[in-house]
Amino acid sequence: MSLVKSESSAPIADAFKNLKPLLHHDQYPDNNVFNGKPYSEKFFDILKVRQNLPVYAQREEFRTKLAQSQVLILVGETGSGKTTQIPQFCLYDGYAADGKLIACTQPRRVAAMSVAQRVADEMDVKIGDECGYTIRFDDCTSDQTQLKYLTDGMLLREATFDRLLSRYSVIILDEAHERTVATDVLIGLLKALLPKRPDLKVVVMSATLDAGKFQKYFNGAPLMKVPGRLHPVEIFYTPEPEKDYLEAAIRTCVQIHVAEPAGDVLLFLTGEEEIETACETIQNQIDLLGKRVGPVLVVPLYSSLTPQQQQRIFDKAPEPRTEGGLPGRKIVVSTNIAETSLTIDGIVYVVDPGFCKQNIFNPRTRVESLLVTQISKASCNQRAGRAGRTRPGKCFRLFTEESFRALQEQTYPEMMRTNICNVVLHLKKLGVEDLVHFDYLDAPAPETMMRALDLLHYVGALDDEAELTKIGDLINEFPLDPQLAKMLIASPKHGCSEDICTIVAMLSVPPVHIKASGEKKIAAERAREKFKHDDGDHLSMLHVYNAFINNKQDPKWCRDLYLNHRSLKSATNVRDQLVRLMNKAKLPLVSMKPDDPYYYINIRKALCEGFFSQVAHLERNQYVTVKDQQIVTLHPSTFLNTKPEWVVYNEFVLTTKQYIRTVTAIRGEWLVDIAPHYYDLRTYPEGQTKQTLQRLFDQKRFAVAAKKNESK
Ligand SMILES: Nc1ncnc2c1ncn2[C@@H]1O[C@H](COP(=O)(O)OP(=O)(O)OP(=O)(O)O)[C@@H](O)[C@H]1O
Ligand SMILES: [Mg+2]
Repeated sequence: MSLVKSESSAPIADAFKNLKPLLHHDQYPDNNVFNGKPYSEKFFDILKVRQNLPVYAQREEFRTKLAQSQVLILVGETGSGKTTQIPQFCLYDGYAADGKLIACTQPRRVAAMSVAQRVADEMDVKIGDECGYTIRFDDCTSDQTQLKYLTDGMLLREATFDRLLSRYSVIILDEAHERTVATDVLIGLLKALLPKRPDLKVVVMSATLDAGKFQKYFNGAPLMKVPGRLHPVEIFYTPEPEKDYLEAAIRTCVQIHVAEPAGDVLLFLTGEEEIETACETIQNQIDLLGKRVGPVLVVPLYSSLTPQQQQRIFDKAPEPRTEGGLPGRKIVVSTNIAETSLTIDGIVYVVDPGFCKQNIFNPRTRVESLLVTQISKASCNQRAGRAGRTRPGKCFRLFTEESFRALQEQTYPEMMRTNICNVVLHLKKLGVEDLVHFDYLDAPAPETMMRALDLLHYVGALDDEAELTKIGDLINEFPLDPQLAKMLIASPKHGCSEDICTIVAMLSVPPVHIKASGEKKIAAERAREKFKHDDGDHLSMLHVYNAFINNKQDPKWCRDLYLNHRSLKSATNVRDQLVRLMNKAKLPLVSMKPDDPYYYINIRKALCEGFFSQVAHLERNQYVTVKDQQIVTLHPSTFLNTKPEWVVYNEFVLTTKQYIRTVTAIRGEWLVDIAPHYYDLRTYPEGQTKQTLQRLFDQKRFAVAAKKNESK
C-alpha cells in the first residue's frame, strides 16, 4: 500500500510524527544499522528468503495500520513470516529508537529461544545483543537489546513490577489462538493499560484466530490479513478411522522413510512415555530394514527435556552411508510444544494423529490432571503448518476427513480449564480489585476462581478480605507456584532454607535419573537406589544434589550413576537464582548439620508449610487424599517402601490409575500445628481421616492445657 495524498493524509502523517525509522523499506546500507559492522554473506542469503515471505509484500500496510491504531489484529497463514518479520518491521520503523523495547510473546520456551536465534541471525547480530530472549530462569538479553522474545508468563511477571510496562513501545502477543492463561491475562491487562499508555502499541497475532472476537474485545481494532505462504502443504486423511493411533503413527513414519523422497519428518504424540516408546520402535523397525533404506536420526521433544536436549531437533539429518547412497532422514517425535511458531529446517512431512494432553482442573475435587484429548481444527492447521516452511510439504492426518470436520474450531481457553492460583495472585499484585468483574476475554468458571481464592487464603497470601498480605507479596517475588514459594518463605523458621532451596530447584528441572532399557536397566535402577532416603522422594532429591556438588559436578560421575548432568547443572543454576531471591527478600539462608536428629524432620515440616493441602492419609491400607477424598496409589517411582500413615505429595498423576508422585512421609500432628485453618474440622468431610485429625487436635489441646498448668 502506498501513501497517496488525500484528505486523510494529515492524520496519517500525524501518526508517524514521533517515529524515527532506522530503515525505509529494503535500502540496507553497507554496514549493519545496529552494530556498524559490515553485513555477512549469510545476511544477504537470508534476506532473499525474507523478501519472498508474504508479510514482506504488506510491510507498508502494516506500518500505516499500526501507526493509525493502538491495537492491531494480524491474522496470517502459518509460515507467512509473522513471528520473525513483524517485530523486525517495528524495529526498522523506529519503535525502539528512543531506548524502548519491542516485545514478542510466545506460549512456549523452545519457540522463544529458537525464534530469537533465527531473528538474531536475520539481523546479523549476536543473540543477546540487539535481539534476545527471556524465559523462566534464563535471561539472554542485555542493555543493547531492542527486540525481545519472551514467554507470555515472563511478560506477566514483569507487569507485576512495572504495571505500566513502561519499558515497551510495542507488545506483540503471538499465537494468541492458543489462549494460554498468561496470554489471556495479558490481553485483559493490556486492554486496561491502553488508555494509560497512549504511546503503547499492541499487536495480536496468529494464523488461526477468531479475529472478530478479538476485534470486538478491543473496541473495533483494525484487522490485517496476510494470505499465502511460501510453500504449499498437501493434506492427506486416512479412509478409515485408526484403532490404535500410536501404532498407526509409527507405521506411517516407517512408510515415509521407505517410500517418500528425501525430507525430514515431524510426528506429534501426546507425552514423554509415548514419545520415548515411539522413538525406540521407529529406530528398531528401520534398523531391521538394513541397507535397503537410508540411515535415520530419531529425536524426541517434550517439555521435561533440558533446553540443550531440546536443541537436538535442529541437528542435521544423517549423511548417506556411502557417497551417492540412499539419503538419511531425521524424524522428530514431539508433543504439541512443536505445534506453533517453530521452523525446523528440513521438515517436509508432518504426521498428525490428532491428539494432545491437556491440563484439566476439576475445581470440585481440586484435582488437576493431564488428559489425552482430541485437538482443535486450529491445532491441526498449526501442525500442518510445520511442513512446507523451507520447501513444499505433506501432512498425513491419521483420521478421516469427516472426523476432521467434526473437530471444534478453536482450543478451549486454558483459563477455563486449569488451576488459576498464580493468575489470581498476579492480578492482585497488579492492583486489580474486583477479580470477578475483571474484563476477561472469557471469564474463568466462578467455582475455579473460588477454589483459587481459597487456596491462596490458606497459604496466607490473601487475608479475610481477599487482599494481598505481606506473605502474598513475598510469594509474588518468586517465579514459582504459590505452594513452592510459601515453602521457601517458611523454611528459615524450620532452620532449613538452604535445603528447601535445593529441593525446590530439583523440583523445577527435568528428572535427574536416566531411565535405561535392555541390559542397562538393572544397573540404572541400582544406581538410583544409592540415593534413596527411607522417608521419601524429596529427601532423595536432596541427596542426589548434595552428592553432585560434593563430586564437583563431574559429568563422568553422573554418567556412571545414570544421572542427567544437564538437569543437575540447571538445578544449580535455578538454585543460585532462588538464593538471590531469598537474599533480596531478606530471608535468612540456614541449614542444620545432617547428623542433627532434627535435620530431616525439619525439612519435612517445611514441606508441609507449602503442601499441607496435598496430603494423603492411609485408610484401610489405601491412601485417600485429604478433604477431596480421592483414592490414590503411590507412583511406582517412589523410594518409599513402607506405607507411612501420612504423606505429602508434589503431583497428582492420572493415567490408568490415580497416582501421587514425589512423596514424603510426614506426621499428622505437624498438619494440625502448621495448617490448623485448613484442617478446620467443622468443615471437614466425615470419615476416618476426620476422626484421626480430631484425636490429634484433642492431643494438642491437652498438651497446651498441661503446659499451662505446669507453669502455674
Ligand atoms: N530457523 C529457520 N530456518 C530456516 N528458515 C526459517 C527459520 N525460521 C523461519 N524461517 C523461514 O521464515 C518463514 C516464516 O517464519 P515465521 O516463523 O515468521 O512464520 P509465521 O508466520 O510466524 O508462522 P507460524 O504461524 O507457523 O508461527 C518460514 O516459513 C521459513 O521459510
Ligand atoms: Mg509464528
